[in-house]
Amino acid sequence: MPLEPVSIRELRENPVKCIAEDWALLSAGTPAHWNTMTVSWGGVGEIWGFDAAFVFVRPQRYTYGLLEQSDFFTLSFGLPRATLQLCGKISGREGDKIARAGLHARNEGGAIWPAEAKLVLLCHKAAAQDLNPAGFLDPAIEKNYPGGDYHRMYIGEIVQVYRQGE
Ligand SMILES: Cc1cc2nc3c(=O)[nH]c(=O)nc-3n(C[C@H](O)[C@H](O)[C@H](O)COP(=O)(O)O)c2cc1C
Repeated sequence: MPLEPVSIRELRENPVKCIAEDWALLSAGTPAHWNTMTVSWGGVGEIWGFDAAFVFVRPQRYTYGLLEQSDFFTLSFGLPRATLQLCGKISGREGDKIARAGLHARNEGGAIWPAEAKLVLLCHKAAAQDLNPAGFLDPAIEKNYPGGDYHRMYIGEIVQVYRQGE
């Protein structure tokens, strides 16, 4: 399928709905060794003078290790719900979930994403920071971490946006 580069400013999708309700795939790695997982927390916006995406990854995710080793991550939208459910339930550690999900890699530079995505944000990793519970002003937030597995936040500069043509 042809990929059309688009400006993020042309997108008309609602970013909160895209992440929170429709969900996305977060991918990292190399064509020989990559992984993807479902995310429904995160966002897009602006920091340090560039357009950015923010994702939150618990350290036990297989994708976490690949993200740590990669200079890029991608956020992919428009995948079927069943694919998102599978990639959000099974770990890449437990076998080839990419093949089970029927996904195929597409890559450019150091960025990799599922070719089946309708919209992809290619992000160059700019910062990584573990959430520090000392900063949780609302004590209710702590209920998300009974195991103490605080997310690592990754901030990526959005360097390219692709939409899949018809
Ligand atoms: C709807 C949905 C949203 C999710 N959002 C996140 C998230 O934002 N951060 C996270 O660390 N895990 C999230 N998960 C859990 C991971 O997707 C899940 O643990 C996945 O199997 C990890 O795969 P991996 O071990 O191959 O990286 C979510 C799961 C679902 C179903």
